[in-house]
Amino acid sequence: MKSIDSLYTKAKINYFHNPNYTAENYPEALNPIISSSLCDDAIKEISQWENYTETPLHNLDNLTKTINVSRIDYKDESTRFGLGSFKALGGAYAVLIELQKTLTEQLNEIVTLQDIRNGKYQEHLKNITIVTATDGNHGRSVAWGCQSFGCACKIYIHKEVSEGRKTAMESFGAEVIRVQGNYEDSVQEAEKSRANGWILVSDTSYPGYTEVPRFVMAGYTVMIKEALQQLQAQTSSSPTHIFVQGGCGGLPAAICAYLWLHLSEKRPRFIVVEPKLADCLIQSAMNNRPTLVDIQEESIMAGLSCGEVSSIGWDILSQGTNDFLAIDDNLIAPTMQSLAKDACSKNPIVGGESAVAGLAALIATTENAELSQSLGIDQNSHILILGTEGATDPEIYQQLVGKTAAQVLA
Ligand SMILES: Cc1ncc(COP(=O)(O)O)c(C=O)c1O
Repeated sequence: MKSIDSLYTKAKINYFHNPNYTAENYPEALNPIISSSLCDDAIKEISQWENYTETPLHNLDNLTKTINVSRIDYKDESTRFGLGSFKALGGAYAVLIELQKTLTEQLNEIVTLQDIRNGKYQEHLKNITIVTATDGNHGRSVAWGCQSFGCACKIYIHKEVSEGRKTAMESFGAEVIRVQGNYEDSVQEAEKSRANGWILVSDTSYPGYTEVPRFVMAGYTVMIKEALQQLQAQTSSSPTHIFVQGGCGGLPAAICAYLWLHLSEKRPRFIVVEPKLADCLIQSAMNNRPTLVDIQEESIMAGLSCGEVSSIGWDILSQGTNDFLAIDDNLIAPTMQSLAKDACSKNPIVGGESAVAGLAALIATTENAELSQSLGIDQNSHILILGTEGATDPEIYQQLVGKTAAQVLA
């Protein structure tokens, strides 16, 4: 850690404490977005999928001592369904739900998710096309779902999405279409393509398109349900803080809603982290309304490089988030390197560029007395971090860490 201390000390984090944070029970008005039963259904379904297995929760004991807090746990999504990120849970699940809806309408019969998974509708599914826009991980999940269930898949990506990420989606049989502009432009192209009769499965939402992203978000809650169970088995301590990185905000909103529904006023302090280069969440919080950010430069945190908040995600985050943080890109490589060495835990961990934003923000916070105080972080704090991806682009991972993921884990 010593070599990177100075970088974290100098880090200037943008910080906004949310005056609209609501301490009371989960508001009834949010149930049409995310409810307990929506999460339960997703968890029940996904945990029956072939090769489903819990991802590990690592105790970052070395880092705990270095930054002098009580405990840090890191939920490691690098192995999720072999796709390398938590996004495997959301897109593929929403594809399945949309296929069920479409087949039910087309065939006018009861269609179960299990029957779709088991290939009963193979012939019909060949004629259905799912479309989405992505900066990588969501597209991989949608492509994997389409291939598994047997329908066609088209994916729009923007001009900066890496070739490695494009190839990964193509390897699941998707047709990947590159458009000019940024993530928001690819979302618009996907929206327009619905005119072809294709079914849009987006992880972000906007007025007029809110239904499908609810299922995407429900899928993500598998991760936090597992983490809470693992914590219960490993320690008597409960997290006081959770750091969650956001792009459009679908992920943090899903996690926030689940914690709110299950722990109510005992839920941990909820801290959202994003890149300064794509800081639509903190800007929306500061302006007290969804605020579009025109991305000038793509962040190294590719999965978080979104200029517009998910509208339904924002409905949850605007009331459920305690604090918003925005960080610089230069904290990312040193944090990935720390995880890959023994600076965080005895066993090396592979965390990708977008996975480590929360961890980077935590380390930088503890080097900043004023911010630590504002966030209430001290030697009694128990922090939960969601490590949302592994080396999803192996080439970029190697460039930033100096080793391949396999070398790190050897
Ligand atoms: C690895 C990773 N972490 C976090 C996020 C943020 O998710 P969301 O855009 O739903 O807020 C993404 C989004 O793609 C991601 O790929």
